[in-house]
Amino acid sequence: MSHEKVLVTGATGKLGRELVPLLLEAGVEVTAGTRDPERGRALFGSGVEVRELNYARTETYDAALMWADRVFLMPPPFSPDAYEAIGAFLDWAVAARVEHVVLLSGMAMPEESDLPLRRAELHLEGQDVAGTIIRPNLYMQNLYPGFIYRQIRQDGEIRLPAGQEGVSLVDVRDVAAVAARALTESGWAGRSVTLTGPRALDMHEVSRILSRHTGRPVAYEPIEDQEFQELLEADGWRAGEIEVILGLFRSVREGWRKPVLADLEEALDRPPRSFEAFAAELEGVWE
Ligand SMILES: NC(=O)c1ccc[n+]([C@@H]2O[C@H](COP(=O)([O-])OP(=O)(O)OC[C@H]3O[C@@H](n4cnc5c(N)ncnc54)[C@H](OP(=O)(O)O)[C@@H]3O)[C@@H](O)[C@H]2O)c1
Repeated sequence: MSHEKVLVTGATGKLGRELVPLLLEAGVEVTAGTRDPERGRALFGSGVEVRELNYARTETYDAALMWADRVFLMPPPFSPDAYEAIGAFLDWAVAARVEHVVLLSGMAMPEESDLPLRRAELHLEGQDVAGTIIRPNLYMQNLYPGFIYRQIRQDGEIRLPAGQEGVSLVDVRDVAAVAARALTESGWAGRSVTLTGPRALDMHEVSRILSRHTGRPVAYEPIEDQEFQELLEADGWRAGEIEVILGLFRSVREGWRKPVLADLEEALDRPPRSFEAFAAELEGVWE
């Protein structure tokens, strides 16, 4: 199979920055799409073509898609309008005759739900293009860097509305590895995979594992939505984003994010990375 070029949207994000080097290693030419090409060039160096791509600006679409025959499609994070944002771009890419679109979606969506990412999946399935849907559980990398990391450093405490339920957190590097295979190997058209880590951990277990590696005690305190909303507001999050985040934690409390599935191991021919290994790598960031 010939692969001329892959456009990676969201290339500077947690997943995109892992995916771009994997595609280069596989010998594929890559365009990295970002709203801030200068930041993209600083991140990737000279081996990657970086193009401005902003879903809100259709004038950026053509140059980003130039010569691309495959697209990794990343919805914007925490956006209640994620479907509208990527739907228009997907239509544009199909009209530009890309051959294969790999859509990043998410775990924990009932088939009949009208959540933005579920609508994006159905939109892709209705297009005249080969499609693959990747549905990861929450990433381990949400714990560092970001909001939760700041909570731990300041208070030695994780305060989330996650109840007592387990989550089969997945390492974003494993998700990127599956995406790289879907973009470079045959046999992925029409496939959907749900990617989880090897074990469901509740937040008490997450805290215990982090404690072993931070050199300080970390505790989990389950909180109510209202308190979490206030914490997020104080941290500068917008109302629409907060609603999406509260929905994610509702899905945790309802047990939707607990299953451990075999898709990742089947795709990579090796077990998923563990949270223990991820936490061990973080030693040194807690001082
Ligand atoms: N985080 C998780 O645990 C997780 C798990 C499963 C699924 N997901 C899904 O993954 C998606 C991204 O979330 P994330 O947490 O991975 O985010 P992230 O690491 O912050 O990356 C998101 C990327 O989207 C790009 N972006 C934002 N707005 C854009 C726009 N208007 N036009 C073009 N690009 C735009 C940003 O790139 P620039 O700033 O460079 O433009 C950024 O690199 C979400 O839909 C989320 O539901 C996330």
